[in-house]
Amino acid sequence: MQNSRFQGVYEIPKRKGKVIFTENLTPGKIVYGESLVSESNIEYREWIPSRSKLSAAIHNGIREIGIKKGDVVLYLGAASGTTVSHVSDIVKKEGFIFALDFAPRVMRDLVFVCEERKNIAPLMADANRPETFMQYVSEVDVIYQDVAQKNQLEIFLKNVDMFLKKGGHGLLAIKARSIDVTKKPRDIFREVKNELEASKKVEIIDAKELEPFTRDHVFFVVKKR
Ligand SMILES: C[S@@+](CC[C@H](N)C(=O)[O-])C[C@H]1O[C@@H](n2cnc3c(N)ncnc32)[C@H](O)[C@@H]1O
Repeated sequence: MQNSRFQGVYEIPKRKGKVIFTENLTPGKIVYGESLVSESNIEYREWIPSRSKLSAAIHNGIREIGIKKGDVVLYLGAASGTTVSHVSDIVKKEGFIFALDFAPRVMRDLVFVCEERKNIAPLMADANRPETFMQYVSEVDVIYQDVAQKNQLEIFLKNVDMFLKKGGHGLLAIKARSIDVTKKPRDIFREVKNELEASKKVEIIDAKELEPFTRDHVFFVVKKR
Protein backbone atom coordinates (compact mmCIF):
# COMPACT_ATOMS: atom_id res chain seq x y z
CA MET A 1 0.00 0.00 0.00
CA GLN A 2 1.38 3.42 -0.96
CA ASN A 3 0.36 7.01 -0.20
CA SER A 4 -1.37 8.70 -3.13
CA ARG A 5 -1.06 12.41 -3.99
CA PHE A 6 -4.04 13.04 -1.71
CA GLN A 7 -4.02 12.99 2.08
CA GLY A 8 -5.97 9.97 3.35
CA VAL A 9 -6.08 8.23 -0.04
CA TYR A 10 -3.86 5.20 -0.72
CA GLU A 11 -3.10 3.12 -3.77
CA ILE A 12 -1.77 -0.19 -4.98
CA PRO A 13 -0.26 0.14 -8.47
CA LYS A 14 -1.35 -2.48 -11.00
CA ARG A 15 0.08 -3.33 -14.40
CA LYS A 16 -2.78 -1.30 -15.89
CA GLY A 17 -3.66 1.62 -13.61
CA LYS A 18 -4.13 1.26 -9.87
CA VAL A 19 -6.59 0.37 -7.12
CA ILE A 20 -7.31 3.14 -4.60
CA PHE A 21 -8.30 2.89 -0.94
CA THR A 22 -9.18 4.90 2.15
CA GLU A 23 -8.30 3.88 5.70
CA ASN A 24 -11.37 2.25 7.25
CA LEU A 25 -12.76 4.35 10.12
CA THR A 26 -14.87 1.34 11.19
CA PRO A 27 -12.56 -1.71 10.94
CA GLY A 28 -14.27 -4.94 9.91
CA LYS A 29 -17.27 -3.12 8.44
CA ILE A 30 -18.05 -2.48 4.78
CA VAL A 31 -20.65 -0.11 3.28
CA TYR A 32 -21.40 -1.19 -0.32
CA GLY A 33 -19.66 -4.50 -0.97
CA GLU A 34 -16.13 -3.08 -1.30
CA SER A 35 -13.05 -5.21 -0.48
CA LEU A 36 -11.04 -4.81 2.71
CA VAL A 37 -7.23 -5.04 2.72
CA SER A 38 -5.05 -5.07 5.86
CA GLU A 39 -1.42 -4.12 6.02
CA SER A 40 0.74 -3.36 9.10
CA ASN A 41 -2.36 -3.55 11.31
CA ILE A 42 -4.19 -0.89 9.29
CA GLU A 43 -7.37 -1.77 7.41
CA TYR A 44 -8.16 -0.12 4.09
CA ARG A 45 -11.39 -0.08 2.04
CA GLU A 46 -11.25 -0.30 -1.73
CA TRP A 47 -12.73 2.82 -3.34
CA ILE A 48 -14.48 1.62 -6.49
CA PRO A 49 -14.49 4.18 -9.35
CA SER A 50 -17.62 2.83 -11.02
CA ARG A 51 -19.51 3.35 -7.74
CA SER A 52 -18.16 6.77 -6.71
CA LYS A 53 -17.61 9.82 -8.90
CA LEU A 54 -14.86 11.17 -6.65
CA SER A 55 -12.93 7.91 -7.04
CA ALA A 56 -13.50 8.12 -10.83
CA ALA A 57 -12.17 11.71 -10.83
CA ILE A 58 -9.05 10.57 -8.90
CA HIS A 59 -8.50 7.71 -11.37
CA ASN A 60 -8.81 10.22 -14.22
CA GLY A 61 -6.10 12.43 -12.72
CA ILE A 62 -7.97 15.29 -10.99
CA ARG A 63 -5.39 17.77 -9.66
CA GLU A 64 -6.90 18.38 -6.19
CA ILE A 65 -9.70 16.93 -4.09
CA GLY A 66 -9.69 19.63 -1.44
CA ILE A 67 -10.68 17.26 1.41
CA LYS A 68 -8.40 16.46 4.34
CA LYS A 69 -8.38 15.24 7.94
CA GLY A 70 -10.46 17.49 10.23
CA ASP A 71 -12.51 19.12 7.47
CA VAL A 72 -16.21 19.91 7.87
CA VAL A 73 -18.11 18.91 4.71
CA LEU A 74 -21.61 19.62 3.43
CA TYR A 75 -22.50 16.72 1.13
CA LEU A 76 -25.53 17.33 -1.12
CA GLY A 77 -27.01 14.18 -2.68
CA ALA A 78 -25.62 11.67 -0.16
CA ALA A 79 -27.84 8.78 -1.39
CA SER A 80 -27.14 5.62 0.62
CA GLY A 81 -23.69 6.83 1.69
CA THR A 82 -21.25 5.18 -0.73
CA THR A 83 -19.02 8.19 -1.42
CA VAL A 84 -19.93 9.81 1.91
CA SER A 85 -18.34 6.82 3.68
CA HIS A 86 -15.00 7.40 1.93
CA VAL A 87 -15.15 11.13 2.69
CA SER A 88 -15.81 10.08 6.30
CA ASP A 89 -12.62 7.95 6.20
CA ILE A 90 -10.61 10.91 4.86
CA VAL A 91 -11.82 13.59 7.33
CA LYS A 92 -11.47 11.00 10.14
CA LYS A 93 -13.00 11.42 13.58
CA GLU A 94 -11.62 14.96 13.76
CA GLY A 95 -13.82 16.02 10.84
CA PHE A 96 -17.57 16.07 10.25
CA ILE A 97 -20.04 15.62 7.38
CA PHE A 98 -23.56 16.98 7.00
CA ALA A 99 -24.97 14.35 4.59
CA LEU A 100 -28.12 15.59 2.91
CA ASP A 101 -30.63 13.86 0.65
CA PHE A 102 -34.35 14.39 0.04
CA ALA A 103 -35.32 10.79 -0.84
CA PRO A 104 -36.75 8.74 2.05
CA ARG A 105 -35.80 5.53 0.16
CA VAL A 106 -32.04 6.19 0.47
CA MET A 107 -32.23 7.91 3.86
CA ARG A 108 -32.88 4.61 5.63
CA ASP A 109 -29.57 3.10 4.39
CA LEU A 110 -27.77 6.38 5.08
CA VAL A 111 -28.95 6.36 8.70
CA PHE A 112 -27.40 2.88 9.15
CA VAL A 113 -24.07 4.22 7.84
CA CYS A 114 -24.33 7.20 10.23
CA GLU A 115 -24.98 4.89 13.19
CA GLU A 116 -21.61 3.23 12.58
CA ARG A 117 -19.74 6.41 11.69
CA LYS A 118 -19.98 9.12 14.29
CA ASN A 119 -18.59 11.83 12.01
CA ILE A 120 -21.67 11.89 9.73
CA ALA A 121 -25.06 13.48 10.43
CA PRO A 122 -27.91 12.59 8.05
CA LEU A 123 -30.21 15.42 6.97
CA MET A 124 -33.41 14.86 5.02
CA ALA A 125 -33.87 18.12 3.14
CA ASP A 126 -34.05 19.65 -0.33
CA ALA A 127 -30.64 20.99 -1.42
CA ASN A 128 -32.53 23.49 -3.59
CA ARG A 129 -33.86 25.20 -0.44
CA PRO A 130 -30.86 25.87 1.82
CA GLU A 131 -32.95 28.25 3.94
CA THR A 132 -34.86 25.17 5.22
CA PHE A 133 -31.75 23.51 6.69
CA MET A 134 -29.50 26.47 7.50
CA GLN A 135 -30.26 26.12 11.22
CA TYR A 136 -28.65 22.64 11.21
CA VAL A 137 -25.50 23.35 9.19
CA SER A 138 -22.42 25.41 10.11
CA GLU A 139 -19.94 27.13 7.83
CA VAL A 140 -18.02 24.35 6.04
CA ASP A 141 -14.56 23.75 4.54
CA VAL A 142 -15.92 21.73 1.62
CA ILE A 143 -19.17 21.39 -0.34
CA TYR A 144 -19.60 18.18 -2.35
CA GLN A 145 -22.60 18.02 -4.66
CA ASP A 146 -23.96 15.14 -6.77
CA VAL A 147 -27.70 15.70 -7.22
CA ALA A 148 -28.39 15.11 -10.94
CA GLN A 149 -30.98 17.89 -11.23
CA LYS A 150 -31.76 20.25 -14.11
CA ASN A 151 -30.73 23.29 -12.02
CA GLN A 152 -27.74 21.56 -10.40
CA LEU A 153 -25.43 24.54 -10.95
CA GLU A 154 -27.91 26.99 -9.39
CA ILE A 155 -28.28 24.65 -6.37
CA PHE A 156 -24.50 24.46 -5.99
CA LEU A 157 -23.96 28.24 -6.14
CA LYS A 158 -26.76 28.89 -3.61
CA ASN A 159 -25.14 26.53 -1.12
CA VAL A 160 -21.65 27.91 -1.82
CA ASP A 161 -23.02 31.39 -0.98
CA MET A 162 -24.69 30.23 2.18
CA PHE A 163 -22.28 27.69 3.72
CA LEU A 164 -18.82 27.55 2.12
CA LYS A 165 -16.05 29.49 3.82
CA LYS A 166 -13.85 31.80 1.73
CA GLY A 167 -11.03 29.71 0.22
CA GLY A 168 -13.06 26.52 0.82
CA HIS A 169 -13.32 23.85 -1.86
CA GLY A 170 -16.36 22.89 -3.92
CA LEU A 171 -16.59 19.49 -5.62
CA LEU A 172 -19.34 19.35 -8.21
CA ALA A 173 -20.45 16.33 -10.25
CA ILE A 174 -22.42 17.51 -13.28
CA LYS A 175 -24.69 15.08 -15.12
CA ALA A 176 -25.19 16.41 -18.64
CA ARG A 177 -28.41 14.50 -19.33
CA SER A 178 -30.16 16.00 -16.32
CA ILE A 179 -29.59 19.47 -17.77
CA ASP A 180 -30.57 18.77 -21.40
CA VAL A 181 -30.86 15.35 -23.07
CA THR A 182 -30.86 16.91 -26.54
CA LYS A 183 -27.45 18.59 -26.28
CA LYS A 184 -24.02 16.99 -26.52
CA PRO A 185 -22.52 16.47 -23.03
CA ARG A 186 -19.33 18.35 -24.08
CA ASP A 187 -21.42 21.43 -24.97
CA ILE A 188 -23.15 21.31 -21.60
CA PHE A 189 -19.83 20.96 -19.77
CA ARG A 190 -18.55 24.05 -21.61
CA GLU A 191 -21.69 26.00 -20.68
CA VAL A 192 -21.40 24.99 -17.00
CA LYS A 193 -17.72 26.00 -16.98
CA ASN A 194 -18.59 29.40 -18.47
CA GLU A 195 -21.40 29.91 -15.95
CA LEU A 196 -19.14 28.96 -13.02
CA GLU A 197 -16.57 31.51 -14.22
CA ALA A 198 -19.21 34.16 -14.90
CA SER A 199 -20.60 33.76 -11.38
CA LYS A 200 -17.28 35.18 -10.05
CA LYS A 201 -18.01 33.27 -6.84
CA VAL A 202 -15.46 30.52 -7.46
CA GLU A 203 -12.19 29.84 -9.22
CA ILE A 204 -12.05 26.57 -11.21
CA ILE A 205 -9.09 24.44 -10.15
CA ASP A 206 -9.71 21.45 -12.41
CA ALA A 207 -12.39 19.53 -14.30
CA LYS A 208 -12.37 15.91 -15.47
CA GLU A 209 -14.83 13.83 -17.43
CA LEU A 210 -15.58 10.53 -15.72
CA GLU A 211 -15.52 8.03 -18.62
CA PRO A 212 -15.05 5.06 -18.64
CA PHE A 213 -16.42 4.78 -15.09
CA THR A 214 -19.55 6.94 -15.45
CA ARG A 215 -21.05 8.23 -18.70
CA ASP A 216 -21.86 11.87 -19.51
CA HIS A 217 -20.55 13.35 -16.28
CA VAL A 218 -17.92 15.97 -15.57
CA PHE A 219 -16.40 16.60 -12.14
CA PHE A 220 -15.35 20.14 -11.21
CA VAL A 221 -13.11 21.14 -8.31
CA VAL A 222 -13.38 24.85 -7.44
CA LYS A 223 -12.25 27.23 -4.72
CA LYS A 224 -14.46 29.97 -3.27
CA ARG A 225 -13.18 33.48 -3.95
C1 LIG B 1 -26.41 10.09 -8.11
S1 LIG B 1 -27.12 10.01 -6.54
C2 LIG B 1 -25.79 10.40 -5.44
C3 LIG B 1 -24.75 9.31 -5.26
C4 LIG B 1 -23.79 9.63 -4.14
N1 LIG B 1 -23.25 10.97 -4.27
C5 LIG B 1 -22.63 8.68 -4.05
O1 LIG B 1 -21.63 8.85 -4.74
O2 LIG B 1 -22.70 7.74 -3.25
C6 LIG B 1 -28.05 11.50 -6.46
C7 LIG B 1 -28.79 11.71 -5.17
O3 LIG B 1 -29.19 13.06 -5.09
C8 LIG B 1 -30.42 13.14 -4.44
N2 LIG B 1 -31.03 14.43 -4.77
C9 LIG B 1 -31.42 14.87 -5.98
N3 LIG B 1 -31.91 16.12 -5.90
C10 LIG B 1 -31.84 16.48 -4.61
C11 LIG B 1 -32.21 17.65 -3.89
N4 LIG B 1 -32.75 18.72 -4.51
N5 LIG B 1 -32.00 17.68 -2.56
C12 LIG B 1 -31.45 16.62 -1.93
N6 LIG B 1 -31.08 15.47 -2.55
C13 LIG B 1 -31.28 15.41 -3.88
C14 LIG B 1 -31.19 11.92 -4.93
O4 LIG B 1 -32.22 11.55 -4.04
C15 LIG B 1 -30.07 10.87 -5.04
O5 LIG B 1 -30.02 10.09 -3.86
